[in-house]
Amino acid sequence: MAEAALIDGKAFAASLRERVGTGVAELTASTGIRPGLATILVGDDPASQVYVRSKSRVAAELGMASFDHRLPGTTAESALLQLITRLNKDPAVHGILVQLPLPKPIVTADILRAVDPDKDVDGFHPMNVGRLGSIASGAPLDFPVPCTPLGCSMLLADTLGSLSGRHAVVIGRSTLVGRPVAQLLLRADCTVTIGHSRTRDLAALCRTADILVVAIGKPELVRGDWIKPGAAVIDVGINRVALGDGKTRLVGDVAFEEARHIAGHLTPVPGGVGPMTVACLMYNTLQEARRRAGLPFAAV
Ligand code: GUN
Repeated sequence: MAEAALIDGKAFAASLRERVGTGVAELTASTGIRPGLATILVGDDPASQVYVRSKSRVAAELGMASFDHRLPGTTAESALLQLITRLNKDPAVHGILVQLPLPKPIVTADILRAVDPDKDVDGFHPMNVGRLGSIASGAPLDFPVPCTPLGCSMLLADTLGSLSGRHAVVIGRSTLVGRPVAQLLLRADCTVTIGHSRTRDLAALCRTADILVVAIGKPELVRGDWIKPGAAVIDVGINRVALGDGKTRLVGDVAFEEARHIAGHLTPVPGGVGPMTVACLMYNTLQEARRRAGLPFAAV
């Protein structure tokens, strides 16, 4: 069996960022509107700090305004809601990102519902969740779609062209990734099956997949012999595992060294889906700024 072609998310994300940067420059030149992204981080989770820092850095690199709000882990839900209300009204802010997970006892659903759906660049507001859940086959994505799922679908379309009629198996049913990925693949005319931790025989299900998207958060769960020869495999997992000598390593939800001899196309970890998330956030922020200018969503 030939080696899988690696899907280079790092390169695709760089090209998407460049196209978004061009879109930002054109929008600002023609309307005077500079897209603005507000990020909110509550608490000091180290991984979240890294993500949020990279989001505001990339926004600035692409010519956007970036407004960073850092709140202590003890912040009351009411204070967080007040900040969101202020950002909803601020005309310089086109996108609001509340980094998840939020510390307890804040109720995440309350917070996500408070963000203006037209500034919801994460696509987590129930209005946008519902729009994606009820979208017709091939209908335009003229509302914000969650960034990681959008990145997965862009990589698949770029790699395979038409996805129509293919059997897509999504492993994981989270509201952040699994469910929205499944909706995007349905929109692209795939036959979609969602598997999860309670599915009876995950390995057998995976073997039926022409497209396999794995977002279950279990290091190297999917083995080489779970994969149909030639399938396109998108590994959304980012798991840090101990190596035993005090060092750690990042691995996906797919056993990469096994999968690369069976799959037709495969995303590496890191360098696959990960870089697409931030690039798609910038894409969503540009689109919301265009909406404010009365312009339609534009493919970039
Ligand atoms: N935490 C992990 N992934 C995400 C994401 O895509 N958006 C936000 N806001 N928080 C996250």
